[in-house]
Amino acid sequence: MSKKILITGGAGFIGSHVVRLFVNKYPEYEIYNLDKLTYAGNLKNITDIEKAPNYHFIRTDIVDATALHTLFSIHQFDSVIHLAAESHVDRSITNPLEFVMTNVVGTVNLLNAAKECWKGNMDGKLFYHVSTDEVYGSLHDGSYFLENTPYDPQSPYSASKASSDHFVRAYYNTYKLPVVLSNCSNNYGPNQFPEKLIPLFINNIRNYKPLPVYGKGDNVRDWLYVTDHALAIDDVFHKGKTGETYNIGGFNEWTNLELIKVVCKAMDKKLGRPEGESENLIVYVTDRAGHDLRYAIDANKIMKELGWEPSLQFEEGIERTIEWYMNNQQWMDEVTSGDYAGYYAEMYGNK
Ligand code: NAD
Ligand code: TYD
Repeated sequence: MSKKILITGGAGFIGSHVVRLFVNKYPEYEIYNLDKLTYAGNLKNITDIEKAPNYHFIRTDIVDATALHTLFSIHQFDSVIHLAAESHVDRSITNPLEFVMTNVVGTVNLLNAAKECWKGNMDGKLFYHVSTDEVYGSLHDGSYFLENTPYDPQSPYSASKASSDHFVRAYYNTYKLPVVLSNCSNNYGPNQFPEKLIPLFINNIRNYKPLPVYGKGDNVRDWLYVTDHALAIDDVFHKGKTGETYNIGGFNEWTNLELIKVVCKAMDKKLGRPEGESENLIVYVTDRAGHDLRYAIDANKIMKELGWEPSLQFEEGIERTIEWYMNNQQWMDEVTSGDYAGYYAEMYGNK
């Protein structure tokens, strides 16, 4: 069946993998990638599909409600996969309002545009909101985040995502807008902006720059390779039950320090450097304010109900990730030119 799908944030890290998957796997769908192209959005992430006949790009800010209403009335999208967001915790600590604008106001604008366009006939329509496990807060025991774990966001980023999740559910409850949500753990892989841990450290190792570990490096994250997240999004979009939430994660927990050591070792090997050379670049820096201790997803619901499972072991995923960044130095050079130097100096003091 043909569909007109609006994917927001498709020039970003995860969005680019979702757009690629949908454009290639579903030639019968029309895919509209809407992106503001902030510092994190990069059309070079998707050059391989830009000429596909079922792909269209629209540069728009989701904070612009009028533009969204116009787009919905022109194109009559029947589904939305909403990924556009400000996504970096450290930036949310410096500038929370930007996160409120894009993540909360932008999401409500999209919900309103869909509601207005779909009023009178919600059949076959779907608003899919892509969210994060960070809305559940920080774990301090051996438990896992379940779909019914109470929300307890601790950073301005997670508070803004939690707020957007609540609005999506409120539109389902109040206006019967057909929605589905997923909350995923930390992603890694090709095309991730090098403000996030793994690409930042790969780039710094390559350039013999210090590896700034926050606090003692004992915070735990649950890592999932980005294309496995994209496949989960495909499953939730096609098989998810309206009104439901699905947690997505790889059952793959690492302390930051353990993970950094895996990356260092793999980089030494890849660059032909003596073992231990990259680890010597580790420096312990002031901890992130309000740093969440542990995230861990229980992904049993999506595995049992939708048949999804992660396909890659972490070591293989890291190998592939390093390989990609090594083979795409021009991409890295481009995204780290311009504003990046200013951001880096502010965050890490010109190290
Ligand atoms: P990203 O920062 O790499 O990309 C975000 C994209 O959104 C960029 O292309 C950017 O240009 C676009 N964007 C930002 N503000 C916009 C606006 N106002 N209007 C239109 N477009 C705008 O983010 P990501 O890591 O790919 O995350 C995508 C989504 O997945 C987010 O909603 C995030 O909360 C969620 N998520 C991310 C992770 C992760 O580990 N990265 C994990 C779970 C969930
Ligand atoms: P990040 O990639 O920013 O993802 P999130 O905060 O959404 O989990 O960070 C992953 C972990 O790595 C987190 O515990 C913070 C830590 N971290 C560092 O120790 N140093 C860094 O320079 C960065 C960016 C992150």
